[in-house]
Amino acid sequence: MATSPRAAVAGVVAAAAVALCLHGAAAQLCEDYYDDTCPDAYDIVKQVLIDAHRSDVRIYASLIRLHFHDCFVLGCDGSILLDNMTGMQTEKEAVPNMGSARGYDVVDAAKAALEDACPGVVSCADILALAAEISVELSGGPKWGVLLGRLDGKTSSISGANNLPAPFETLDMLRRKFRAVGLNSDVDLVALSGAHTFGRVQCLNIADSPADRLYNFSGTNRPDPTLDPAYRAFLIRRCPTKNGNSPVLNDLDPTTPDLFDKNYYTNLEVNRGILTSDQELKSSPQARGTTAPIVDQFARSQDAFFKSFAQSMINMGNIQPITDPSMGEVRCDCKKVNDS
Ligand code: HEM
Ligand SMILES: *[C@@H]1O[C@H](CO)[C@@H](O)[C@H](O)[C@H]1NC(C)=O
Ligand SMILES: *[C@@H]1O[C@H](CO)[C@@H](O)[C@H](O)[C@H]1NC(C)=O
Repeated sequence: MATSPRAAVAGVVAAAAVALCLHGAAAQLCEDYYDDTCPDAYDIVKQVLIDAHRSDVRIYASLIRLHFHDCFVLGCDGSILLDNMTGMQTEKEAVPNMGSARGYDVVDAAKAALEDACPGVVSCADILALAAEISVELSGGPKWGVLLGRLDGKTSSISGANNLPAPFETLDMLRRKFRAVGLNSDVDLVALSGAHTFGRVQCLNIADSPADRLYNFSGTNRPDPTLDPAYRAFLIRRCPTKNGNSPVLNDLDPTTPDLFDKNYYTNLEVNRGILTSDQELKSSPQARGTTAPIVDQFARSQDAFFKSFAQSMINMGNIQPITDPSMGEVRCDCKKVNDS
């Protein structure tokens, strides 16, 4: 954390903290945004996460996914956290989120702890960005300085949430969706997909149409040819029926299910990516000379992966933040727009 500017403006507080984040005309995010107004924000969120993890080993994975699903829809504005409003349907009920996205209660617990310490200061969008970094760090992954100063939006978009990248999509489609939010480099796509080094996936995303890789891949009546046969046999035992509506959860990375490491990429090297969207990065015909060499590099070097991942998380966190107070607010309750 940068602390020298903070000492310089001690006592001038909020206005100075905002001014520090101004670079030229447009307000930008910065690491020290809460240094004067809520200096313990990071530690407060961290303690809530550690407490939640005691009874839920999956929570770190679930929280970074919330940040991803927030940032890809209307930018990183906390829109995913809003419940139904008049005339606006919650993103929580979009297909990629419903019965799948989780951790909302932990975000609420972090918000409550922050409201106790510094009422009305830390936005819900920033809580998601902080929780994502803390989750990676506590799982053995890289650390990075989280950029802060996002305001919470006042709208949500269920259609945007329904357009999130899908597990059955090809490399072409995935690249298009990342470019659409300004993540133009294949390094961002490959590095951020490495978050599938921890967390769980339901059978419906590997055994049900249109995501079926085990029984009837793309209507071929055959399994996905880029899926390792022994791994397929293992997955069939876990997800024994096509379109079976199974409640079973599978590890995204069966080698080290809860650790943040480079094994996602070593899995891809041996055709053990679990989702089509994972294996595409290595095995798509279009991956040659584009994403496949990046997969190879990360499979060889955890250091290279961690460095790129940290930078790509900052890039993702910079998707359309709201910094203009006339366009956003610090929500009191992450589930509701203020005064609603
Ligand atoms: C590249 C496009 C992506 C697709 C198609 C995709 C798809 C999915 C799917 C289908 C699941 C399983 C959901 C379920 O079965 O309930 C999942 C889980 C997960 N995804 Fe992704 N994802 C993508 C990118 C990302 C990114 C960029 C991140 C974070 C940086 C991420 C983090 C996670 C995590 C951590 C989980 C496990 C969550 C948990 O256990 O609660 N994913 N993803
Ligand atoms: C939210 O609104 C939609 C559409 O109006 C409705 O179908 C759904 O049941 C509502 N969800 C909740 C949790 O109230
Ligand atoms: C496989 O998928 C195709 C296309 O969705 C479908 O027409 C076909 O009936 C499926 N095969 C089986 C055995 O269900």
